[in-house]
Amino acid sequence: MDRPAAQVPSPQDGFNGNVVNARSIMKRPEEPCSFIIFGASGDLTHRKLIPALYNLACDNLLPPEFQVYGFAITPMNDESFRKDMEEAVRNSNEASPFDPRVWHGFAKRLHYITADFEAPEGYKQLQEKITAYVKEKNIPDNRLYYLATSPSFYELIVSKLGEHGLVTPDYASGTQWTRIVVEKPFGHDLHSAQALNASIHKVFKEEQVYRIDHYLGKETVQNILAFRFANSIIEPIWNRRYIDHVQITAAETLGVEHRGAYYEKAGCLRDMVQNHLFQLLSVICMEPPVRYEGTSLRDRKADVLRAVVPINPENLADIAVRGQYGPGFINGQPVVGYRQEPNVNPQSNVETYVALKLFVDNWRWADVPFYLRSGKRLAAKCTEVVIQFKRVPHLFFQLSAEDQIEPNLLIIRIAPDEGIALRFEAKVPGPDMVLRSVQMNFSYSETFKVSPATAYETLLLDAMIGDTTLFNRADQVELSWAIIEPLLEVWSATRPFQPFPNYAAGTWGPAAADALIARDGRAWHNVPVSTAPQKAPQVSVELTGEPIGVRRAQTPQKGQKEE
Ligand code: BG6
Repeated sequence: MDRPAAQVPSPQDGFNGNVVNARSIMKRPEEPCSFIIFGASGDLTHRKLIPALYNLACDNLLPPEFQVYGFAITPMNDESFRKDMEEAVRNSNEASPFDPRVWHGFAKRLHYITADFEAPEGYKQLQEKITAYVKEKNIPDNRLYYLATSPSFYELIVSKLGEHGLVTPDYASGTQWTRIVVEKPFGHDLHSAQALNASIHKVFKEEQVYRIDHYLGKETVQNILAFRFANSIIEPIWNRRYIDHVQITAAETLGVEHRGAYYEKAGCLRDMVQNHLFQLLSVICMEPPVRYEGTSLRDRKADVLRAVVPINPENLADIAVRGQYGPGFINGQPVVGYRQEPNVNPQSNVETYVALKLFVDNWRWADVPFYLRSGKRLAAKCTEVVIQFKRVPHLFFQLSAEDQIEPNLLIIRIAPDEGIALRFEAKVPGPDMVLRSVQMNFSYSETFKVSPATAYETLLLDAMIGDTTLFNRADQVELSWAIIEPLLEVWSATRPFQPFPNYAAGTWGPAAADALIARDGRAWHNVPVSTAPQKAPQVSVELTGEPIGVRRAQTPQKGQKEE
């Protein structure tokens, strides 16, 4: 294990006065590693994986003797693969500025195998190439496989890796490791997720499996842990006594783009709710873990999913709303409806919007409603968690009947404009007792003056190091599918209550979703659509004190069992 249990970064590590360079405090893996991408000619490799690896190369964070082996059916050789990847990096808005010197060194590490996932030839070739390289360099044969194909190939590839002897048990060998990263979607319902877990476990031990949910790699999601558990003033009020309700929103202005064929099979419930929104729910609701390490954290998160009150198919209309966008306007430009998107059935009843009301039935959260919503082609791009606190019990200010004091609101902005805001009431200066809501605002970009590393950089590095903390465990994935199973069943078997499309692109979703929360006397927190600064007076946050570095604790390795 490379990552020390706890370490305080020094100014040389990238802390420089008020400026923190996130990447420069990431640690370079010490063990050599071969990175094998199945589906190397696909979208994910172009958009996310290679730009993230290139960024790590720019910051000298790749492991020693790091080699990439692309594996896919599209005919290419090393040279054309390198050319293709160069273009991907040059066109990526997530990649660091193109530096020909870094690229030259990085490109030499890229190799390609044209092969079909079924036939033995490709696997043989892969084995020969890797073995030749590690022998020549006299290094351990550590491998990180990455499933970036369509999910329909996952089981096949995993079984072929086993059949051709390409997997070394992670902690048994003591000298070398093999791990596998599995992209989402992990299954398309509970049954298929269980089947996929069972197939993977025939070849890999759970400790070798890294199920990705890129939300967990987001700085702002990890910061929820810091906010909750590194501040003593938060935990005492983080419960049903003080919190009225919680809203979790992942709103996008994008439509389905070129992913119509995938989306027709997925829909919003599978694409966003089962994974990303439930991750946010888990991090917001979890009990304090014993240690910042894979097992502790994942146990506490799984507890939350276990405590979610099962959805009753009888009262779906009261707790769930589905929607689909029709034509409309985004940023003043006309856009087509979902049914007019490429590769979408013109009569499709697939949902592009979901709103849900859930309860987490435990000591801390009993009776606190959690309103979750996600949708495409909504009025603004905004992922946030809003905690609304209870109103004050008694008001001694003399207010007119129509004046109401606003409840305190804690807004955790996951993206964009990453940060945290707290709304509270203040006295307006002057002779009279006049109150006004003000907002205390912490903005990542203003405070730390740096853009965070992308989620994929963090997650790829963690997988190379062997840190499972930010990855999903088999039970978590199955628990989240189990929660939405009744919805999947009813929605696939019935037509929407209100014919689709039921919201125009560029709006905040179907009216039924507003009604869902309004029935409880509440309203969605919709961010202002314009980019103009909010009117409420702001109080900003300044950096004080010295930085304290906290590293994740060791994940059990080689010969150790997880507790
Ligand atoms: C992906 C979904 O997992 O997350 C996409 O498949 C969605 O449909 C994306 O657009 C949203 O991610 P982010 O990081 O932009 O919130």
